[in-house]
Amino acid sequence: MSTKKNFIVITGGGGGIGMACAKALKGEELFITDYSQEIVDRTVKILKEKGHRVMGAPCDITDKEDVARLKDAVAKQGIFKALVHTAGVSGTVKDLKKVFTIDLVGTELLIEAFHDLAKENTVAVLFSSMMAHAVPPNAQYDPALADPQAAGSFETVSRFVDGSSDTMYNFAKRGVQLLSVKHADAWGAKGARIVTISPGVIETAMAMKAAEEHPERMELIKKMTPLGRNGTPEDVSDVVRFLVSDAARFITATDILVDGGVIHKLRKLG
Ligand SMILES: NC(=O)c1ccc[n+]([C@@H]2O[C@H](COP(=O)([O-])OP(=O)(O)OC[C@H]3O[C@@H](n4cnc5c(N)ncnc54)[C@H](O)[C@@H]3O)[C@@H](O)[C@H]2O)c1
Repeated sequence: MSTKKNFIVITGGGGGIGMACAKALKGEELFITDYSQEIVDRTVKILKEKGHRVMGAPCDITDKEDVARLKDAVAKQGIFKALVHTAGVSGTVKDLKKVFTIDLVGTELLIEAFHDLAKENTVAVLFSSMMAHAVPPNAQYDPALADPQAAGSFETVSRFVDGSSDTMYNFAKRGVQLLSVKHADAWGAKGARIVTISPGVIETAMAMKAAEEHPERMELIKKMTPLGRNGTPEDVSDVVRFLVSDAARFITATDILVDGGVIHKLRKLG
């Protein structure tokens, strides 16, 4: 019998939702990654102090070689059990290319690299956003969103976002959902699953920064939410714990909305 450890890899582990996911997965062997060594060290220290079994390594998810090194580091330590991919940036970075590259290209680099290690019951949970549901299907930009590494994809999508990094974020997050469907057969051939999760407004540093920029929009969203409040990181991490568990064994190539019911209400109102 193998004595190798089964690792759950969490990207963006130093972020609000990444940290909550790590806490929700207590008892599992965790492999935390984030942009810098400093963030990883700080996160691993906090989690170790709380009794988690955790190790980590830095990785810029937009750098293919860095992602390959991360995959090798995980493979060296044990068996790859799950990827919880929370790393990302919002439109507040004001750079269309950065949003597209981090949120979409980086996601596909991780999907491809970790597919090599996937096996029966492995799962990838990728972070999309409720805002992805505000972007309708479209025969012109959807192929570019589903193939973000192809030459010209960024330029094609850019034509539809009116220079807004917030809109590019919404498109990139739709792309994340398209990627899960695109890669589901390859993951399924190994008995592995690939799903997306779409949080609503979750009170983390990322959301608070957006709230500073658009206080009226954030207030309106809260008011319109059927459950009458913003989400907490734990509202999301509890669903992630379910999605990586055997209880979710027949869920793949789909998106799970965790938004208090607001996006479909806003869409209905136009
Ligand atoms: N907070 C919300 O309201 C909300 C809503 C919908 C979707 N989401 C999504 O959930 C995920 C987590 O959000 P959060 O609120 O925890 O954000 P956060 O800003 O707290 O954390 C994001 C993490 O990603 C890391 N990161 C950024 N660029 C990276 C790169 N190139 N390589 C590696 N790591 C990188 C950051 O260092 C940070 O630790 C994101 O994908 C976000 O788009 C968040």
